[in-house]
Amino acid sequence: MKHHDVIIIGAGAAGLMCAATAGYRGRDVLVLDAAKQAGKKILISGGGRCNFTNQKVEPNNFICGNGHFVKSALARYRSSDFIDLVERHGIEYHERDHGQLFCNDSAKEIVTMLLTECEWAGAKVKLRTEIGKITQADSGKFEIATDKDVYSCDSLVVATGGLSMPKLGASPLGYHLAEQFGLKVLPTYAGLVPFTWQPEQKLKFEPLSGIAVPSTITAKDGTQFSEALLFTHRGLSGPAILQISNFWKPGETIKINLLPGIDARAAIELVLANHPKQNLRNTLGHWLPKRLVEALFDEALLNRAMNQLVHKELEQLAVDLESWEIMMNGTEGYRTAEVTLGGLDTDELSSKTMETKSVPGLFFIGEVMDVSGWLGGFNFQWAWSSGVAAGQAV
Ligand code: FDA
Repeated sequence: MKHHDVIIIGAGAAGLMCAATAGYRGRDVLVLDAAKQAGKKILISGGGRCNFTNQKVEPNNFICGNGHFVKSALARYRSSDFIDLVERHGIEYHERDHGQLFCNDSAKEIVTMLLTECEWAGAKVKLRTEIGKITQADSGKFEIATDKDVYSCDSLVVATGGLSMPKLGASPLGYHLAEQFGLKVLPTYAGLVPFTWQPEQKLKFEPLSGIAVPSTITAKDGTQFSEALLFTHRGLSGPAILQISNFWKPGETIKINLLPGIDARAAIELVLANHPKQNLRNTLGHWLPKRLVEALFDEALLNRAMNQLVHKELEQLAVDLESWEIMMNGTEGYRTAEVTLGGLDTDELSSKTMETKSVPGLFFIGEVMDVSGWLGGFNFQWAWSSGVAAGQAV
């Protein structure tokens, strides 16, 4: 049996960050992963440019059963710390809307940086390794059987991520391990994920595929995001939808304001005063794409002049434009979701070290736990911050 101080399962964002941090502290670290390549999700993230963090990271950018849990790790390893690391490796980056930071060139640079850090820190990464049975001996040491060797370690770090994108190697191993050690796992859901049409909506809206409009979307709990809304063949997507999907539950409607920043009633009054004979189709055509207008409103209504519409119809028009309430069929699920909501209950963990309270030496980091970030680099920041927190403690 080969012994290491620390074994980390998962060579993704959190696992590699933890490995380098622990390695620099002189710990003998081995990272095990079933995949052929380390950091597969990093490689495809941000359209291949990896939105690696955000300029402004606040605890309220995260969804977690315990809102205070993320504070300590985020305060001790900030986005500015990761930006310093990126700059030390000479990686060029740029800022997009809402403080999102992306590589100028390729997400590969982030993976190379993390693997270089592991190498400099003396942490070893072993890929193509299937994990078998994991047990804890009376001595407190963990034993990990794999398809190659059997290992033992003093600290075991579970960094296996969530269930999103199974084709990239996502697996439920982390949840199973948590349950094996008697830890509570909260139900999991696909997050940052597009919505799908109901069958009758599909007939009506599928031809709009490709249309993007600014929007403000509100979930049942009042959470709101103002970003682009995209119509797809399968349903609704775009940043506004991905963000709101984190706050949506099956059976709930969402409200879409198609004219964010415009007072619809005042705008309608203005057209009525200045262009009373203009038909509704042309009026709406100034604000929204024609195909969307035709899908949303009745043909006969669109052909009427503004001054032929009665008060009740004008009022309904404002409601339809400002708070279009729609019940989607569901989400595209883990196949396309960027994150997994739920997971290991954070009440089981120390927020300072990510060590489980009931099993000394067992740590969980990254997405496997019940912490999910908004769209915008927050999920990677959680991987970096939680990885460093555990790396300093193992
Ligand atoms: P991660 O998933 O990175 O790593 C888990 C590792 O565990 C993997 O290497 C996997 O192979 C390994 N593993 C799993 N099961 C195993 C088993 N049974 N045996 C052995 N190894 C196993 N976030 C963000 O902040 N900015 C962005 O731009 C994006 N973009 C993005 C795009 C897409 C398409 C997706 C799917 C996700 C994103 N994300 C993102 C989210 C981000 O990728 C995610 O939150 C982090 O990668 C989570 O890091 P972890 O280290 O926890 O898991």
